[in-house]
Amino acid sequence: MTEESSSACARAHSNIALIKYWGKREQYLNLPAVGSISVALDALYSETQVSFSSTLAADDVQLDQHTNAKSTQRISAFLDLIRHRAGMDLRAQVRSRNNFPTGAGLASSASGFAALALAGAQAAGLELSARELSILARQGSGSAARSLFGGYVEMHRGEGNKGEDAYAEPLLDADAWPLHLIIAITDEAPKKIDSTQGMQSSANSSAFYPAWVDSSPDDLAAMRNAIEQRNFTDLGELTEYSCLKMHGLMLSANPGLLYWNAATVALIHRVRELRQDGLGVYFTIDAGPQVKALCRPQDSDAVADALAQVPGVKALRSTGLGPAAHLIDSL
Ligand code: PMV
Repeated sequence: MTEESSSACARAHSNIALIKYWGKREQYLNLPAVGSISVALDALYSETQVSFSSTLAADDVQLDQHTNAKSTQRISAFLDLIRHRAGMDLRAQVRSRNNFPTGAGLASSASGFAALALAGAQAAGLELSARELSILARQGSGSAARSLFGGYVEMHRGEGNKGEDAYAEPLLDADAWPLHLIIAITDEAPKKIDSTQGMQSSANSSAFYPAWVDSSPDDLAAMRNAIEQRNFTDLGELTEYSCLKMHGLMLSANPGLLYWNAATVALIHRVRELRQDGLGVYFTIDAGPQVKALCRPQDSDAVADALAQVPGVKALRSTGLGPAAHLIDSL
């Protein structure tokens, strides 16, 4: 029997939602209950190599040089979608690395599954459009659907029950309106409650959940408008509003979900103080304790200097807006 093998490698950037996604309308296809709007982050990315080979008896997955049964199972299930679509059954070797802490609220699942979708589809010989890749990536992680694209990106909730209209698409290129983010890392440990569990618990137990879903179209429309008008104040205010609304929803689950630590709260206060002092800066926080401060590029040094002084801040990352996911030669 001749050996069959094919390999591809991709880089996808992490993204941060300005209007947050939290909640699923369907679990199996991973259909979001709300749309979302994000920006791609230049300095944070995942690189993933997928090599299908007839010599492998099982998928062999290493993330940041570690093997973990839960991740292997999730990635194998995702590769099954690609194998099914390509009409083949080869197992794969997957090697992936992040240039930032994994699973700690820095959207490693977003960049990881976007890179896996792109490299996996290419290695399997599938010719998918950007929209089809976004639909595929969504089945790995909701936010991954957005990480296929650069700059400002909108994810559509969709209405169909097969997920054909639940995809992301670009709103505006990164260099059409440069923004900057300072990421304050307060804890590098992986989060204890993952987003799927957290979303399920919020939907099942929070009295606020219907209001969260119902109010989402207005938030999306306002953010689309802020981006179209390049209105930084509106963009910043809407970003904080959506972030605190999502965390309010999380807190109102039973048992309440609290992803913050003392440094997270101190950073929120500091960002608001800086604003009172005249600096244009706004915060956003995902399902973890890190704080991402959004500012204009010319203010990024002043914001970074101020946030570095906040007790409990372990490290800072500074980034502009990033490009779309793309194939690369090798890891
Ligand atoms: O893509 P998931 O399932 O890890 O969910 C992401 C959820 C948030 O990061 C909290 C919000 C968002 O829109 O990215």
